[in-house]
Amino acid sequence: MCGIVGVLGNHEVAPTLVEALKRLEYRGYDSAGIATVNDGQLDRRRAVGKLVNLSDLLVHEPLAGKSGIGHTRWATHGAPTTINAHPHQAGPVAVVHNGIIENFRELRTELAAHGLTPSSETDTETVAMLTQHHMSEGLSPVEAAGKTIDRLNGAFALVFLFEGQDNLMIAARRGSPLAIGHGDGEMYVGSDAIALAPLTDRITYLDEGDRAVITRTSVEIRDAKGRLANRAIKQIQMDAARIDKAGYKHFMAKEIAEQPTVLADALRGYLDGDSIILPGEPLDFTKIERMTMVACGTAFYACLTAKYWFEQLAGLPVEVDVASEFRYREPPITANTVALFVSQSGETADTLAALRYCREKADRIVSVVNVAESSIARESDLALPIHAGVEVGVASTKAFTCQLNVLLLLALKAAADRGRLSPEALSDTLASLRALPGILNVALDRGGVIRKAARRIAESRDVLFLGRGLMYPLALEGALKLKEISYIHAEAYASGELKHGPIALIDKSVPVVVMAPRDTLFDKTVSNMQEVMARGGKVLLITDAAGAAEAGQDVWQTVILPEVPPVLSPLLYAIPAQLLAYHTAVAKGTDVDQPRNLAKSVTVE
Ligand code: M6R
Repeated sequence: MCGIVGVLGNHEVAPTLVEALKRLEYRGYDSAGIATVNDGQLDRRRAVGKLVNLSDLLVHEPLAGKSGIGHTRWATHGAPTTINAHPHQAGPVAVVHNGIIENFRELRTELAAHGLTPSSETDTETVAMLTQHHMSEGLSPVEAAGKTIDRLNGAFALVFLFEGQDNLMIAARRGSPLAIGHGDGEMYVGSDAIALAPLTDRITYLDEGDRAVITRTSVEIRDAKGRLANRAIKQIQMDAARIDKAGYKHFMAKEIAEQPTVLADALRGYLDGDSIILPGEPLDFTKIERMTMVACGTAFYACLTAKYWFEQLAGLPVEVDVASEFRYREPPITANTVALFVSQSGETADTLAALRYCREKADRIVSVVNVAESSIARESDLALPIHAGVEVGVASTKAFTCQLNVLLLLALKAAADRGRLSPEALSDTLASLRALPGILNVALDRGGVIRKAARRIAESRDVLFLGRGLMYPLALEGALKLKEISYIHAEAYASGELKHGPIALIDKSVPVVVMAPRDTLFDKTVSNMQEVMARGGKVLLITDAAGAAEAGQDVWQTVILPEVPPVLSPLLYAIPAQLLAYHTAVAKGTDVDQPRNLAKSVTVE
């Protein structure tokens, strides 16, 4: 979603701001802008669409100044227009904002009584206007911003810049992350450390409720109660914040290809011989009676897969829900329940709210995250890193397989602790898991046949995905991936549900992707597949050699994957699902890494 940068520099900042915004492009946006203070005057440039439009504008209308703020906007209040783009300015105040100000209408009414009217449709402009109003009453910029922030309801990360103040930025965090970067006589602000990586590796993460008064040589942070707060300066790994395509055409292609490597690294982080080692205070699975798993999107499908693992391997009942439903459902959390939250970004607003709902109710709050410094990680009793590395493509790929990996290890540990998996069986499964990165490489080699099928699928209006058991969540994930980046309508069903309605959709124009390794459910899935073919449906069967030999004769296309123990099949079958979506999107010529309307990290509900 929206991205924020701020720089108090010793050189012209406009190019630095645009460069930093480029590093936030992956979050998804539809307009961008920067504001600077030059000779005491605030000025700004804003443009709709990609950052290149802002860069072009700056060529024709340069913006001077050594201090400035910048923003990429993902529209919430008001269409993506230049007027609605940030920074918003009201008199001597410019503001950039991530999140939503819930009481902006009420504040607008108040401001109207003082003769102040907005020029945009946004909630953010109200923040600038209210600060302007407080300054007109004689308050200093720091006092006025503070008084404004006190009035705001909702979730936000805010950075303020002021006319006549070349050495001042004010930053505030409530609900949306914000990081301060420390330079040499320079100071920076960013909505994540990735934006600041080329500028500095010394980062302070603001805590929930923090406000910071920043100059080129100082940062004063106060906590939610107004007390001076001492937040650590952390040295971040520059490598971890590296963003490049490494020769691939798209980040998504690179991230799909990286899966064998990151999976092998992730396994090394969790395995010591035949022991599964979790960081922090151990989870005692013998005492846990139930697990509640909550997430959104792809992370939700990882949870759905994990439900099969935990229930089948460990005999542990698992409830899974999408965060946006869970948080308002007020579900009872019974004794000895572990609440587990899965999130790549660790900042998804609904997932974070669901975690907070469980805070005083569940026995332990566990999270499975990619961003170690994220809000979800920080608010968990136990945060399990997935070690996927930075994921830039909006469509989640390597994070999904790495989430599956951690969840499977957790389920195996639960099964072993609860005496449902012998040491020998655990050792065998771990050996297979260690061999999996090599097998994923074989699956990646199937790119050619998948690309061929994708060219035909690119011409379709609708696509169905079918799977049973562990392949059902994978079918859901395959459909989500396809629709997000190719904009083709795709739906997934548990194969057994076909006859209960969706079969009405089948005709020869509808490709049906069937995910079916030769496991105990294979025959049943094949029966459903036959029902599709009897109605002219064009089947793309993703299976293994045994499955292809048995059922691959009359299908439209077959993708043959290596055989793996059934429990590992979700990690393997994720690869053709991702490749199919990727090649279809490429064939359609859509924006693979930044698909329309989508954001990488969904920080509003
Ligand atoms: O950062 P999170 O894992 O919490 O994000 C959850 C979803 O927004 C995310 O998985 C989304 O569905 C992806 N675009 C899927 O590719």
